[in-house]
Amino acid sequence: MIIKSICCIGAGYVGGPTMSVIAHENPHIKVTVVDVNSDRIASWNSDDLTKLPIFEPGLDVIVHKARGRNLFFSTDIDQAIDEAEMIFISVNTPTKTYGAGKGMAADLQYIELCARQIAKVSTSDKIVVEKSTLPVKTAEAIKDILDNTGNGIHFEILSNPEFLAEGTAVQDLIDPDRVLIGGAETKSGQEAIDVLAKIYASWVPEHKIIKTNLWSSELSKLTANAFLAQRVSSINALTELCEATGANITEVANAIGSDSRIGPKFLNASVGFGGSCFQKDILNLVYICKSLGFHQAADYWEQVILINNHQRTRFANQIVKALYGTVADKKIAFFGWAFKKNTNDTRESAAIYIADKLMDEQAHIQVYDPKVTALQMQSDLNHLNSRSETKNSKYLTTHTDPYAAAVGAHALIIITEWDEFKTYDWQKIYNTMSKPAFIFDGRNLLNRSAIESIGFTYTGVGQ
Ligand code: NAD
Ligand code: UGA
Repeated sequence: MIIKSICCIGAGYVGGPTMSVIAHENPHIKVTVVDVNSDRIASWNSDDLTKLPIFEPGLDVIVHKARGRNLFFSTDIDQAIDEAEMIFISVNTPTKTYGAGKGMAADLQYIELCARQIAKVSTSDKIVVEKSTLPVKTAEAIKDILDNTGNGIHFEILSNPEFLAEGTAVQDLIDPDRVLIGGAETKSGQEAIDVLAKIYASWVPEHKIIKTNLWSSELSKLTANAFLAQRVSSINALTELCEATGANITEVANAIGSDSRIGPKFLNASVGFGGSCFQKDILNLVYICKSLGFHQAADYWEQVILINNHQRTRFANQIVKALYGTVADKKIAFFGWAFKKNTNDTRESAAIYIADKLMDEQAHIQVYDPKVTALQMQSDLNHLNSRSETKNSKYLTTHTDPYAAAVGAHALIIITEWDEFKTYDWQKIYNTMSKPAFIFDGRNLLNRSAIESIGFTYTGVGQ
């Protein structure tokens, strides 16, 4: 099969950047990204490239080059499906909030809707690619729906999970550690794998393209996220011990990370990991293990989440304790709200949970984040349903100037590791804060001695 046209269902953090890069590197293939969210599609089509729906360094340049040439964003889902030989499913797979598996299992309703729509609309053979992160064995369900509700045409299912990280999405896509493609162990399955591999081979060296069976590919994605999150929880699980003993977590991380078998990456102690996927994917893994009766394995992986929850709570409690046991009516400045630097994504950000706990104590939170809108912060808090929207807006103020956010604050919290925070005039910030002025550095971003020499009381994580 020769691919002349690709459709991607889901124009989110994965679908948008991934398809932009595929289109950019394969000018001979028409790539149409479709979504039910017409506002999102309108933003992808915006002439003003600063208005793209997601912020990723370098994405504007890629979109500018390919859009209108062979990259299109549209709400006409049926047409894009019908004309494509290959369809990527890149819709959201959140944790279920209802019914069996509530709070743990992946909610596959959007995946099933896509499968049914593909089956209904398609009039020629298609390769359907799972780009979303899915529980192992999902391809079986998709195949079942396609074969039983389709128009008698042939569907080949591939698993091609995405490993990009937000904030570095373009770089990760242009120069990936690997591309993983899983397919059926049949002749047509292997041929489909080769067809997709050829598209990636336009820019990815062939030795980086890993080919497996469907189930290995699906499970490898959940496993990769579980291992990465486990490293963060492992280092965070040592921070209390460091604080109690005088060991310094940064020194410990450096010492262990120098062992080439351990390696230095993902050993930054923090206020806890966030993002839309680590928690969701581990819970999904835990649920699968539990469903199959593998309770020890389920408990093992669940600890990664429990440590992360503990780290957030511990950080919030530390702040209240240091501020003489009460933050009622005190102003607390937050620098950062996004779950990591270089993204406007706030999903599962530690900021939300820490702000919520401090607002329970009636603190007034004053936030500055370079990329997150006031509306998003408010909506993140409203989503928790901890208090009324009116109370959330009473206790949360947002600022577009970091210096303004710090005025009158008793404490300043660094939540996100934005590089710009390191360049601020911290003396100026100190001068406008209530005294004694505290800094709680949830990322160990600032230089402790420089900050302390100004007069701040500085608390890092695990130091
Ligand atoms: P997202 O919420 O940003 O985007 C999903 C999009 O799909 C939304 O715009 C939604 O409107 C659209 N959609 C849902 N159902 C639809 C339907 N039936 N028809 C058309 N459009 C529909 O999600 P995301 O962050 O891009 O994640 C997508 C998947 O990729 C998830 O499974 C996630 O686990 C996985 N993933 C995400 C990342 C990441 O960094 N965000 C990285 C790797 C993998
Ligand atoms: C993560 C994975 O890194 C990607 O490979 C994967 O594709 C993606 O999830 C996904 O499936 O969604 P992402 O969540 O975008 O990517 O960002 P990460 O860089 O992994 O960071 C996740 C969280 O861990 C952030 O809150 C980050 O600040 C935190 N973190 C990371 C630490 O606290 N310490 C570290 O050392 C590293």
